[in-house]
Amino acid sequence: MDAPDWSPSSWRERPSAQQPDWPDPAAFDLVLKRLGALPPLVFAGEARALTAGLAQVAAGEAFLLQAGDCAESFDDFSADGIRDKLRVILQMAVVLTYSAGVPVLKVGRIAGQFAKPRSSPVERVGDREIAAFRGHMVNDPGLTAEARVPDPERMVQAYHQAASTLNLLRAFTKGGFADLSQVHMWNREFVASSREGRRYDAIAGEIERAMRFMAACGIDLGAEEQLHQVDLYTSHDALILGYEEALTRRDSLTGDWYDCSAHLLWIGERTRQPDGAHVEFLRGVHNPVAVKLGATTTPEEALELCARLNPDGVPGRLCLVTRMGAAKVEATLPPLIAAVRDAGHPVVWVCDPMHGNTFVSPSGRKTRHFDDVLAEIRGFFAVHRAAGTWPGGIHLELTGDDVTECLGGAEEVLDTHLDERYMTACDPRLNARQSLDLAYGVAELLRAG
Ligand code: PEP
Ligand code: CO
Repeated sequence: MDAPDWSPSSWRERPSAQQPDWPDPAAFDLVLKRLGALPPLVFAGEARALTAGLAQVAAGEAFLLQAGDCAESFDDFSADGIRDKLRVILQMAVVLTYSAGVPVLKVGRIAGQFAKPRSSPVERVGDREIAAFRGHMVNDPGLTAEARVPDPERMVQAYHQAASTLNLLRAFTKGGFADLSQVHMWNREFVASSREGRRYDAIAGEIERAMRFMAACGIDLGAEEQLHQVDLYTSHDALILGYEEALTRRDSLTGDWYDCSAHLLWIGERTRQPDGAHVEFLRGVHNPVAVKLGATTTPEEALELCARLNPDGVPGRLCLVTRMGAAKVEATLPPLIAAVRDAGHPVVWVCDPMHGNTFVSPSGRKTRHFDDVLAEIRGFFAVHRAAGTWPGGIHLELTGDDVTECLGGAEEVLDTHLDERYMTACDPRLNARQSLDLAYGVAELLRAG
């Protein structure tokens, strides 16, 4: 059923934050028309399967791992990059699945994460001011005024890059790359390859024994489809509403509207105004949706967002992604949880431990410290355990590449290392080792529960 007074374009009547100033509105409209004629990237049935999985998370019977780039890049796009990112996510998921003892739902910040909200519309370069970089879907990161002019053709390129990324992900996840024994072997290598990694030897050994136990019981591990294939869903910030509208289609099976640019769409901290265009758009599509909640969020705002985005209280429809900062989470999260819990909204609570912990290092790089990231997750778990609610998942910015963007981790990245391989198109990401360190850290929290 259609949401009351909603259409794929009803967001146009509302104030929309963070939209680029397209220099030629007619060219922008023409691109949207072309996008509207292109095939969907994902299918409604897949989005429904994700909602069902998230309903399990809302009920405390599954855990969510949402992870990937801060911003995908047109310049850094390769099969190896996609493969390595997927590999880290799979490796983390095995560790988390074993420790949580429940299924881990895997959602990438991938195949569409091309647009960025910015705190400031301009950036200072030397003694000049130029427009801010808003993601490869909008403009170019080059440090000139020309590079920063929004170009709607970039939306078409983003669509095609998302399509080929999805194509490869579908092949990798169904074609043998995700084989459990293989993923476990990669984890074994990680554990063996450093002194710090050996701390996790016990968990790795237990997983191995569990697999041997299954085999000894007569389960043919080679024949079990679930041990060779995984479902990986896609997600991104539904920032550029014209793009999202163009990819919104009616499902032929149910007649419902779905935004077919990704399985899950989220609303960022800067675009979550209850009366704003982003909330208006996402309230009418039937995909699962998420909203980021920063440290200034009031309980009333959280309740208002629940009422607008999930008026029927459908379990799995709405994720609340809190990004408070390690120092604030234990003070700012409890009133939100209490309000939502007491109102009976069946939300999925997710911790984004990245965006509240960003700072500029003495060397001048935007960075995050591994210890703060883990500390925010620890606080998130503690608050949920005290409230009797389920800490449903984590939302991370990471890459499979050996970058030096975040500080710390077992193989400690120092401020003096940041310049070595600082590659991100936007925010600093955990590298592969830091991501696995984090997974084992979260595993310990899950087991402690
Ligand atoms: C992001 O997820 O990259 C982001 C900008 O987050 P937020 O909207 O929470 O600041
Ligand atoms: Co980011």
